[in-house]
Amino acid sequence: MTSKVESRGRRSPPGSRRGRRIIVAIATSADGYIARPDGDVEWLNRRPHTFDYGMREFYSTIDTILWGRKTYDWLLKYYKEKGRTKGLFDTKLANYVFSRNPPKTAAPGVEFVSGPVKAFARRLRAMPGKQIWMMGGGELIASFLDAGEIDEFDIHVIPVFIGKGIPLVAARHRDVPLRLLATRKYPDGVVRLRYEVRRHG
Ligand SMILES: NC(=O)c1ccc[n+]([C@@H]2O[C@H](COP(=O)([O-])OP(=O)(O)OC[C@H]3O[C@@H](n4cnc5c(N)ncnc54)[C@H](OP(=O)(O)O)[C@@H]3O)[C@@H](O)[C@H]2O)c1
Repeated sequence: MTSKVESRGRRSPPGSRRGRRIIVAIATSADGYIARPDGDVEWLNRRPHTFDYGMREFYSTIDTILWGRKTYDWLLKYYKEKGRTKGLFDTKLANYVFSRNPPKTAAPGVEFVSGPVKAFARRLRAMPGKQIWMMGGGELIASFLDAGEIDEFDIHVIPVFIGKGIPLVAARHRDVPLRLLATRKYPDGVVRLRYEVRRHG
């Protein structure tokens, strides 16, 4: 993986005890889903690309992306339907896909990970580098959150209800307090919410 020591901007607070931050950056419907039950995100993709909602700036702060296997599969299928066969993943970044049963081959630029989330996160944080983008989906976010390994949620709330679907965090009893870091509203009704996960003790 890349090992640039550089770490930019407010996302890397000096003196952070845990090193590199793991940040969920994701879009949800206003009723809290990241996709329809079958994985469909047309409700998200159909939006005009008028704003980048700060994603370019965010992208410049990361050098690693964490993917759930279902999100990885979804992306491969999406690219296949579009006829795109090359440059599927940004090979300048480290792309880790989590699976308990990884396939024998991976797309270029991708590495499969199977071990316990906590040990992996600790190893990753201990390495020099930029911030880490937790892409999701909801099952992988839940695994990291329940292991105490998510630092921040950067959520773009899309002004649409989709009724049912895959939740931002896979369902399980929780009580996780959040601290609001920032809000921003866009003229098209999208709201960006940045929350820090508060730690006990
Ligand atoms: N709205 C957005 O911005 C956005 C962003 C990302 C994703 N999505 C959508 O989210 C959907 C997928 O979300 P999802 O919640 O169903 O699935 P997911 O989190 O993408 O993937 C779940 C899979 O990840 C692996 N996994 C999860 N926890 C693990 C752990 N602790 N150790 C090892 N492997 C682990 C398992 O793979 P195995 O089954 O192989 O073991 C599990 O089945 C897709 O449709 C995608 O389009 C939307």
